[in-house]
This record gives sequence, C-alpha cells and structure tokens, in this order.
Amino acid sequence: MSDIIKIKNLQVTFPDEAGPIYAVRGVNLNLKHGETLALVGESGSGKSVTTHALLGILPKDAEVTADQLQFEHQDLQSLSEKDLTLIRGSQLALVFQDPLSALNPTMRVGKQIGEVLKYHEHLHGKKLIAAVNAEIKAVDLDNPALIASKFPHELSGGQRQRVMIAMALIGQPKVLIADEPTTALDVTLQAQILDLIQAQKQKHDLSVIFITHDLGIVANIADRVAIMYAGEIVEVGTANEIFYYPQHPYTWGLLDSVPDTDDDQEQLFTLPGTPPDLHQKSKGDPFANRNPYALTIDFEATPPVTQLSATHFVKSWLLDPRTPAYEPPVSIQKRWQTYRALAKEGTHD
Ligand SMILES: Nc1ncnc2c1ncn2[C@@H]1O[C@H](COP(=O)(O)OP(=O)(O)O)[C@@H](O)[C@H]1O
Ligand SMILES: [Mg+2]
Repeated sequence: MSDIIKIKNLQVTFPDEAGPIYAVRGVNLNLKHGETLALVGESGSGKSVTTHALLGILPKDAEVTADQLQFEHQDLQSLSEKDLTLIRGSQLALVFQDPLSALNPTMRVGKQIGEVLKYHEHLHGKKLIAAVNAEIKAVDLDNPALIASKFPHELSGGQRQRVMIAMALIGQPKVLIADEPTTALDVTLQAQILDLIQAQKQKHDLSVIFITHDLGIVANIADRVAIMYAGEIVEVGTANEIFYYPQHPYTWGLLDSVPDTDDDQEQLFTLPGTPPDLHQKSKGDPFANRNPYALTIDFEATPPVTQLSATHFVKSWLLDPRTPAYEPPVSIQKRWQTYRALAKEGTHD
C-alpha cells in the first residue's frame, strides 16, 4: 500500500518565557492508504501538535520545520494558505475530544450541519433539510429531526461526538484524524464511537489516524501503532508487533497500565515519574530517568533506531547489540510467548 501521508523529520518549537519548548523532535511517520494508524502516548507527548503541524493549524508563533510534509503527491509546506485551507476543509478532516468547543453553542445542530452541507454541496430548502437528516442518520442517531432541532449542550457527549463525525465526513475527506475522540466518554460509549469510526472508514474508504493516551482501546482497531514520548516516536509497528512483541520499556509501561479484561486480579502498573520538561533537549534518552532498564549510556547518548522487521522500529539502547542480556517484565514475556506461538501458526503478518 502506498503512503497517503508522509512526515519526515518534523520539528515543532514554541516560544516560551522560560525558553523554547521543543514539543516535536524529529518525528517520522507515514500513513498508508486505507489503514488505521494509532498514535499513542501520555498527555503532552506531542500527538496533537504533530497532527496540527500537518494540517497547518498551529498558532502563528510555532516554529515548524520538516524535511517532508506530504499529502498524496503534494508537499503541504509549499502550498499557499488558500490551497492549504481547501485541502484541510475537504481532504483531511479532524475530529477531536471536545465537540462542545468545536460546535457553535448558539446554533442548532441541524443548522450547523446544514452550513457545512451548503459549503460542499450548495443545497437549500427541503433538499437541505433532508440532507441534514440523512447525515444525522448516517452516524446512527435515531430521530434525526429531533437531534437537528437541539443546541449542542442539549445533546449527550456521545451524540455530540457523532454529530462531529458526521460534519467531518461531509466533505468526503480521504483522511480522518480522530484526536482522543472518546477520551471524555464512558467505556460503553467509547466502544460505540470506535465502532462508528470503523464503519465510516469502510464506507468512505478513509485512512485514519487515531490519537489516544490509552493503548488498550486501539487493540481492535489499529493496523499499526506509533508510540510517542517527549516529542519523538520511540516505537512503531503493526498492532501485532506492538501488542505481542513490544520492545521499548515505555511501550511496556503503557501496556502494563492497560487493564487486562481476562484477569480481574491483575495489578495495574502506573508508569512512575513524570514526563520530561520539554524545555530541555536532554542528553541521552529522554525516557532514561523513568526507565527501570536504563543503562549508563541512556543518560549520555541518543539511542539508535533499530529495525526488527519491515514494519517494526524501536528507538532504545536495549536493542543495541552491545547491551548485556536482560529480561522484560513477566507480563511482557507472556506477550512475547503469544507472539512466537502466533508466528509458529503463521497467523500473524
Ligand atoms: N500553543 C502552544 N504553545 C506552547 N506550548 C504548546 C502549545 N501547544 C502545545 N504545546 C506544548 O507542546 C507539548 C505537546 O503538546 P500536545 O501535542 O498537545 O500533547 P498531546 O500528546 O497530549 O496531544 C506540550 O508540552 C504542550 O504544553
Ligand atoms: Mg492532544
């Protein structure tokens, strides 16, 4: 599959009274046609900033550089503001965590959907009303006319998120970027919104970037997973590789903090320590001071990127051939056993 989005060496720096904030530090990321890529990391790791840089919607004072920022065959950096606005409005759609802040609080939902429809399809009158109702129905909301008549605050969180998804898809985008769309919702609603995104993806032939801090919820929807820490991608691989053959100790930490639904007794592990201060361009591996597996070199030099398969890359000194033998946590060893068993059966990619 070819790449619909290609990001190479993206750097984003914000000015700040206490000195520049290095929010994104050399991100390489690609999105293949038709895939769902999960971008996962703790709050503040640079997930939103990465996608906002791609969309060109960062505040003006952000300093953005990249060797490549490509959508299909276009270099987004070389486009005029006008062309970029066009692409953003139609081809690349963004849905984010808090639909309340994205919707106009003083306008009925139906009218807001209607505005988007008018922009893309020049409908009016009865045809417009019918089209609005059809859009609401398409995201599995019952009684579209009633929903259309409500103000955003009169809808539930799940209903609002469905309305946002409907609006995002009206322009028939090729890429949907869903930025923590389920974070504010309870578990049942989360699952429903994930199902909805999957269904819309099939229906509209979308490529999806799904952003979350919760690695657990993407297990069933992601084709590939990129793990972000302190403005860098520290591990990327297929869902199988990340869930069953994870190599970065940060990925281990994220996996161990995901509740295992088969095992109520399992102790949840919370990653100790706090994310690094992004004002510093730290020497060595930014994760070193939280990493129980850190070696002396982790505090001294930037870790190399090791390639384990056509799809699996890890940025950690643990993978260096000179690193002494080590054993990952038992929970992770179990995952590796599963991976090896699957490999024997030949059932994974
Ligand atoms: N407009 C801004 N000005 C200054 N710093 C920002 C701005 N937007 C984001 N940041 C900083 O960039 C870092 C990454 O933020 P973000 O991408 O939003 O993280 P997340 O992974 O939670 O989406 C954070 O430390 C955040 O404080
Ligand atoms: Mg974010």
